[in-house]
Amino acid sequence: MADNDKGGLEGIVVARSRMCSIDGQNGVLIYGGYDVKELAKASNYEETAYLLLRGELPSREQYDEFDGRLKRARFNHSKEMSDVVDALAARGAAPMEMLRTAVSTDSFDDPLKDDNSEDANFAKTIGLIGRIPVIIARYTRRRRGLEPVDADPELSHAANFLWMLHGEKPSDHAVKTFDTALILHADHEMNASTFTARVIASTLSDLHSAIVGAIGALKGPLHGGANEQVMLVLEELHASGKKPADAVREKLERKERIMGFGHRVYKTYDPRAMILKEMARDLAVEHPGEEYLFELSEETEQVVTHEKKLYPNVDFYSASTYHYLGIPTDVFTTIFAMSRVVGWAAHVIEQHNDNRLIRPSSEYVGPPPRAYVEIAER
Ligand code: CMC
Repeated sequence: MADNDKGGLEGIVVARSRMCSIDGQNGVLIYGGYDVKELAKASNYEETAYLLLRGELPSREQYDEFDGRLKRARFNHSKEMSDVVDALAARGAAPMEMLRTAVSTDSFDDPLKDDNSEDANFAKTIGLIGRIPVIIARYTRRRRGLEPVDADPELSHAANFLWMLHGEKPSDHAVKTFDTALILHADHEMNASTFTARVIASTLSDLHSAIVGAIGALKGPLHGGANEQVMLVLEELHASGKKPADAVREKLERKERIMGFGHRVYKTYDPRAMILKEMARDLAVEHPGEEYLFELSEETEQVVTHEKKLYPNVDFYSASTYHYLGIPTDVFTTIFAMSRVVGWAAHVIEQHNDNRLIRPSSEYVGPPPRAYVEIAER
């Protein structure tokens, strides 16, 4: 390992991939050749998912077929899956623990479970994209003592989730906002959870195992878990009664990390954060009495950017956005997974299609060779 290498595989290329490219200096994110800003405006999650999985935007016919399969997948879950979700909600499992466990059950009855061909992986991915929202909404309602709401076959992916979560038809504005957030989280090159998925796939293990591993990696606060932490920090700042700028400065002086800021690749504003910020600003207006959340976020951004030259990442403004959409704070990271499952799966497909075991090396820094000493003589 070079002396100046801080570890963390920074800057190391570990795969060749057609899905996603990031220009970290200029804050540009591309999916399959399309700028994510353009996709956020003009596309929807279903179409973006197809692009990531198949490499091209779908024709009308391809879109309808894909969308129909996604919608059918909502209804095609086993009784075991519902039972597991209900039991975990009753047992008080945390949302990411629940998701990690419930997603695992999705392969139990799948005749394709150990088939790593592209067609089988594509079919399994459609099942997961369709059913993960069902799992999250069911769990969230059960936890509150509410009956689950059946999926609606007429609604889009984003609208159906909000419907199943709240039991009320969402506004067009809420659907567009949530759909855009899903697009923005769909893939992000070789982030930690995607790398995890690719490592698992490279052993020729199955797609579900790779996704379960990726969920575990996403859960950490340095990765997807940051969105939940952002909300907790905002609430803490609000409750402190201090001037927000002073409270943030104090945190920085104590060398605390401010969640939702900084990025391994972006050295400027994360383009996803820019879009999420505007969506949070628009939603704040619709939530009288809770505008403070957006205002507090903006003030925090000003201080952190000024003091540390760190910019918001995707997790910072997703916190207020999700809150305004009525999503409970501890469920935020499962929403990230609900979107990112498509990116993980696309990477698994790419890995399986051209596989070589991912098995790097480590540099040994332990003691030099020495003779074994019997326990009685130690
Ligand atoms: N708040 C305060 N200081 C920070 C932050 C932060 N959010 N992020 C980095 N720094 C400082 C860090 O303390 C270090 O300072 P020093 O050199 O004085 O020790 C310096 O910046 C470099 O930090 P690093 O950890 O070596 O840099 P990295 O490239 O490994 O960091 C990161 C990337 C995302 C882990 C880090 O910025 C971080 O911890 N951010 C907060 C957690 C977060 O928001 N994670 C979400 C990441 S993006 C989307 C996702 O994956 O979910």
